[in-house]
Amino acid sequence: MTSATSSSSPFPSVLLTASGSYLPEKILTNDDLSQMMDTNDDWIRQRSGITQRHIIADDQLTSDMAVEAAQNALDMAGLSVDEIDGIIVATTTPDDTFPSTAATVQRKLEAFHAFAFDIQAVCAGFVYALDTADAMIKSGKARKMLVIGAEAFSRILDWTDRGTAVLFGDGAGAVVLEADDNAPDWGILSSVIFTDGRFRDILYVDGGPARGNVGTVKMSGQDVFKHAVEKLAHCLDAAIAASGKSVSDIDWLVPHQANIRIINMLQKKLNMPDEQVVRTVDRHANTSAASIPLAFDEAMRKNMISAGDIVAFEGIGGGLAWGAAIVRVGKP
Ligand code: UT7
Repeated sequence: MTSATSSSSPFPSVLLTASGSYLPEKILTNDDLSQMMDTNDDWIRQRSGITQRHIIADDQLTSDMAVEAAQNALDMAGLSVDEIDGIIVATTTPDDTFPSTAATVQRKLEAFHAFAFDIQAVCAGFVYALDTADAMIKSGKARKMLVIGAEAFSRILDWTDRGTAVLFGDGAGAVVLEADDNAPDWGILSSVIFTDGRFRDILYVDGGPARGNVGTVKMSGQDVFKHAVEKLAHCLDAAIAASGKSVSDIDWLVPHQANIRIINMLQKKLNMPDEQVVRTVDRHANTSAASIPLAFDEAMRKNMISAGDIVAFEGIGGGLAWGAAIVRVGKP
């Protein structure tokens, strides 16, 4: 299933005006992992490109990381919490079964004018949340929104399974979206989302509230890899076509950071040079819904991406769920 919006829409533009992120202090290196299980730095680097990951502190929750990232984004936007109409948190690792992590974030931020809800699309969560917020703002339900991806993935890993435990990390990223009635060809130019539940069993958690336990991540790595390369290339093509742009108009690819080999294959398919691809997987590992906004915020704060640049986001994960968005960043 897919949804798409295009730049010829009669609705307000949805500008992406600011970003923020948060990484927990604790770093776990590949060498640290090799003390815990039968793995080694060479294997992890060669197969995934990962060298380290950040791990949430015992006394932290997903909402704590989300709040830090959101506050950074609000500071960059120069907005107060009272100006925010809506908050979406994309997460697979909510603090509680309910209420939503977004409701907790709203309370911690004291953003009491904002409605708040979570979206669960695993590693595609940020793109799904962006797509949803875009539709809400375009339809007039909100003018300013926070979209946050936040994950405590280390809490749902099986630390005895070397096939998954070495691949993930924790963190949060956020963006501010603002309606603008006079900014054609700026902001979210298109977004596409897809799901194919027939592949639910190649990446899942063997638990959940209805099953009575939290469970841990199970993955058929090679199967997911093959789907990722094919489906991400297809959805990027679809998003670029819906935006009215062509590949040569894209200034930056900010991909989901799961595996450097997947990122390199997509880069090759798009024929983009190294300098236009944002890579953080080496230091962040796969932070699921947080990975795209974390990478985006790093590139913004390093002055790699600047106002007016056209950015392509893409992500895929459990579901399978995947999607992409094309955004001209900043304000005219
Ligand atoms: O964000 C959600 C999307 N997720 C992804 O995109 C992940 C997609 N998949 C991948 O990134 C890759 O498939 C992996 C990085 C998970 C695995 O790479 P691979 O090249 O597909 O390796 P493999 O699973 O085929 O395993 C190769 C070998 C096996 O040994 P044998 O059977 O050949 O003797 C594994 O047992 O590597 C072994 N192995 C390890 N060795 C050392 C698996 N995990 C490890 C490990 N350390 N951590």
